[in-house]
Amino acid sequence: MGYFENVIEAAALLRQRLGKLEPKIGIVLGSGLGAVADAVAHPVVVPYAEIPHFPQSTVAGHSGRIVAGQLNGVPVAVMQGRVHYYEGYSPLEVTFPMRVLGALGVRAVVLTNAAGGIAEGYRQGQLVLLGDHINQMGWNPLIGPNEARFSFQPGAGLRFFDMTEAYSRHLRDLAKDAARDEGFDLAEGVYLATTGPSFETPAEIRAFRSLGATLVGMSTVPETIVARHMGLEVVGISCVTNLAAGLSATPLSHEEVSETGRQVEQRLAGLLKRLMPKMEAQLGA
Ligand code: HPA
Repeated sequence: MGYFENVIEAAALLRQRLGKLEPKIGIVLGSGLGAVADAVAHPVVVPYAEIPHFPQSTVAGHSGRIVAGQLNGVPVAVMQGRVHYYEGYSPLEVTFPMRVLGALGVRAVVLTNAAGGIAEGYRQGQLVLLGDHINQMGWNPLIGPNEARFSFQPGAGLRFFDMTEAYSRHLRDLAKDAARDEGFDLAEGVYLATTGPSFETPAEIRAFRSLGATLVGMSTVPETIVARHMGLEVVGISCVTNLAAGLSATPLSHEEVSETGRQVEQRLAGLLKRLMPKMEAQLGA
C-alpha cells in the first residue's frame, strides 16, 4: 500500500473512533503547550500508537495523542505532540499527521510551536502570530511525484500552488481580534524553520535576522506547506520560549523551552477558545 492509502486508513480509524464528531478545525500543540487539550469538552482521546502508520514522538514534553471534541462549542481535533525531522523521521512521516487531518475533513489548522525570538522587543513568553515563513530546512515535503488525490478541498492537490497567503489573512485578523478580547496584543512575525536539533549559533541568528526572520524554530513549515497543498487554511502561533542565541545572557536549553511553554499554555488556551467560534463562522458550513 502507498502513502495515500496509509493516510486514508489512518483517517478511517479516527473516523470510527470519533463517531458522530466531525472536527472542522485541527490544532497542533507544540513543546510544552499541551494544556489546550484539557479545555476540550467531551473529549475522545486516541493515542498515536493506536492509529495505523502514525509516527510516534520521541521528544520530552510531546505527549503523542489526539484529543477530539468541542473547544468552545466548535468540533476540533487537537494533536498533542508532533514529530520532527531531527528525530530521524522523513519529510513524508513528519507531515503524515497533517495529511490525516486533511483526510478527516478539517477546513483549517492552527499550528502552534515553541520558537526562539529574533526580533528586538520580543519578550520571553510572548505569543506571536505567524504572518509568513522562511523554509531553511533544505527540503520541501512535496518533493517527489505530485499526489493529486490530496485534493480534499476544491481546487487543491496541485503540483505548483500559491504561497502568498500561506497564513490566511482573514484568519490572522480573527486571531488578533481574539487576542484583544483576551486583553493582549498579538504581534505578527516571520518564522524561519531550521532542521535542528542543535540550537543556532549567534552568527546564524544574525544571518536569519538579515533575511527577515523574527522567530526561529524546528517545525511548522512542512505542516503549513502540506496543509496549503490540500487547500486548508492555516493559522500559525509561536510561543517565544527564549530569546534566540546570542540575544540573552543564559545558554539555551530544552528545559527553558518547556518551562516557558508551561507558563504560557493557559494564555494560549484562552486565545484558542476565543478564536474557535470566530474561525468557524468565517469558514462557513
Ligand atoms: N531555536 C530553534 N528552535 C527553538 C528555539 C530556538 O531558540 N526555541 C524553541 N524552539
